[in-house]
Amino acid sequence: MIAKHIKEFSKNAYRYDDYTALQQDIAHYLVSHITTQPKTILDLGCGSGAVFKNITWQVERFTGVDSAQGMCDLHPTCKEVEIICEDFEALTLLSKLTPPYDLLVSSSALQWANDIKALISKMVFTCKEGAFAVFTDKTFETIYAMSHLPTFLPNAKSLAEMFETHFTCKYEIKTFRLFFDDNLSKFRYIKKSGVSGGQRRLNVTQTKALIQNYPHEYLEFEVLFIWGISKIFQKVNKI
Ligand SMILES: C[S@@+](CC[C@H](N)C(=O)[O-])C[C@H]1O[C@@H](n2cnc3c(N)ncnc32)[C@H](O)[C@@H]1O
Repeated sequence: MIAKHIKEFSKNAYRYDDYTALQQDIAHYLVSHITTQPKTILDLGCGSGAVFKNITWQVERFTGVDSAQGMCDLHPTCKEVEIICEDFEALTLLSKLTPPYDLLVSSSALQWANDIKALISKMVFTCKEGAFAVFTDKTFETIYAMSHLPTFLPNAKSLAEMFETHFTCKYEIKTFRLFFDDNLSKFRYIKKSGVSGGQRRLNVTQTKALIQNYPHEYLEFEVLFIWGISKIFQKVNKI
């Protein structure tokens, strides 16, 4: 069964780039801090190509994986690019890939994984280095506090510790604020940007109350950035 948020991504794909200046900035920041110019790249949750569009060096092979067909259809194509429309947690994915990849990358997508720890433990074998940007639990903090709902987003420190078991890495936690003219625009943005859970968990009255009473002119976001070399790769190559 296709997850609700994947259906949302496919449905809203045509306007994804209009609502996601933040995700574009995140992908730019992530890619611009990769110093090694990797030639073969695997991008999990590639979407409409924010990672690929920010690569400034020549690549030999770029494989993007995304389970929303609408998003895959928007990804740039060229002879170096291969797009696989598949759940990045699917057991069948590995058999469709051709590792090793110089770089395993994912921008603004891993927060959707059901089990991010299991996913990274499996995928670390496919790559020499990794670069990841993940939305964390301080994203929409005020909304979650006001609505008394638990966030589905992972905690930055626990995530960083998990990455450190597999990568010799550096990390950075960055906060962002997006300003809006009114509260309705903020909530429209949340629905269309693909950062929320894609699930309606508040009833109409609760949503209206939240829209009326939200106290800030901005929405808040927190993103964990990780760049590192696979410890398995280092061990095998005695680096
Ligand atoms: C917020 S978008 C980010 C897209 C792109 N990486 C960017 O930086 O703009 C998240 C993407 O992850 C994809 N996605 C979410 N869960 C997924 C899963 N389990 N398997 C594959 N793709 C997934 C969505 O379809 C969507 O295209």
